[in-house]
Amino acid sequence: MYTLRWQDNKLYLLDQTKLPVEHVDIECSTYEEVADAIKNMKVRGAPAIGVTAAYGIVLGAMEYVGDKGEPFFSHMEEVSRVLAGTRPTAVNLFWAIERMMSIVRDNMDKSLDEIRRLLLDEAHKIKYEDIEANKKMGRFGQELLKDGDTILTHCNAGALATAGYGTALGVIRAAVEAGKDIKVYADETRPYLQGARLTAWELMEDGIPVTLITDNMAGYFMRKGAITGVIVGADRIAANGDVANKIGTYTVAVLAKENNIPFYVAAPTSTFDLALESGEKIPIEERDPREVTHIQGKRIAPYDVKVKNPAFDVTPNRYVTAIITEKGVAHPPYGSSLKELVLKAQ
Ligand code: MRU
Repeated sequence: MYTLRWQDNKLYLLDQTKLPVEHVDIECSTYEEVADAIKNMKVRGAPAIGVTAAYGIVLGAMEYVGDKGEPFFSHMEEVSRVLAGTRPTAVNLFWAIERMMSIVRDNMDKSLDEIRRLLLDEAHKIKYEDIEANKKMGRFGQELLKDGDTILTHCNAGALATAGYGTALGVIRAAVEAGKDIKVYADETRPYLQGARLTAWELMEDGIPVTLITDNMAGYFMRKGAITGVIVGADRIAANGDVANKIGTYTVAVLAKENNIPFYVAAPTSTFDLALESGEKIPIEERDPREVTHIQGKRIAPYDVKVKNPAFDVTPNRYVTAIITEKGVAHPPYGSSLKELVLKAQ
């Protein structure tokens, strides 16, 4: 299973809007195609859209025809503006674009071909670092899981949401690889159904036992004692440990606290936004009302009904038992533990 691959100067993405029914690749040879794929969620998940945007910057540089220097730099600024305008919540997108643009800025004295080569190297680096970070996160996180645990997850924070292995699902994978008997409950995750379409499929492909439930069943199963832990990913984590993740995560976190179940967040440090004091400042994407009024293209709600469709919510830090990263596990108070992790060498 792969989320994205670079081949013959093109980016290939596994079209996640078609999974699990069809396995179709999308070929991107322009940065505009990459931006469109991110916006329309053909590729999704915070780390995956960061890596995808990095390759979008490479394509933007390859498409350019003209003089080096200022005209090239303003073209690249336009490329990064278009890519950054695709989705507002996951900070990994802006993190990756900034990392790529710093390569452009620092090498303006070089030839265009040399800059293109450096950009491609950097995009590959971002991709492989992401897989490596997920594996490390898995090793730290799996120590928190016990043999026999049943873990609830929300949305898809797996291989499909990253360059490979996954964050929340990476922790589960690592626990299974360590020989623990782990079962998973996957919330279907309305409206986009990442849980039903992607998490259930991804875990079944790996032979990890998964049970699919609708979002409103989580409390019922927690109360019955069927769930022993929750692990989710994140789109942005503020300096105080407030976590933005897929809409419905907050509900799950509150239910977990009420039922004395640990609620873990697994995310690379590229998901931290320590410039934001709290989660209140995290921009929340509002998506097309059709995602709520329709399921798989079929209308399920009255014509002209008023609709709200925020794609993410913010879970206040008091509900978060621990944050698992590639540099270790942060515990409350997050104001100090997240900073310490960022400063820590790998
Ligand atoms: O709208 P999506 O599918 O991009 O939202 C994805 C999530 O909310 C994930 O949980 C998050 O990005 C972490 S992925 C490792």
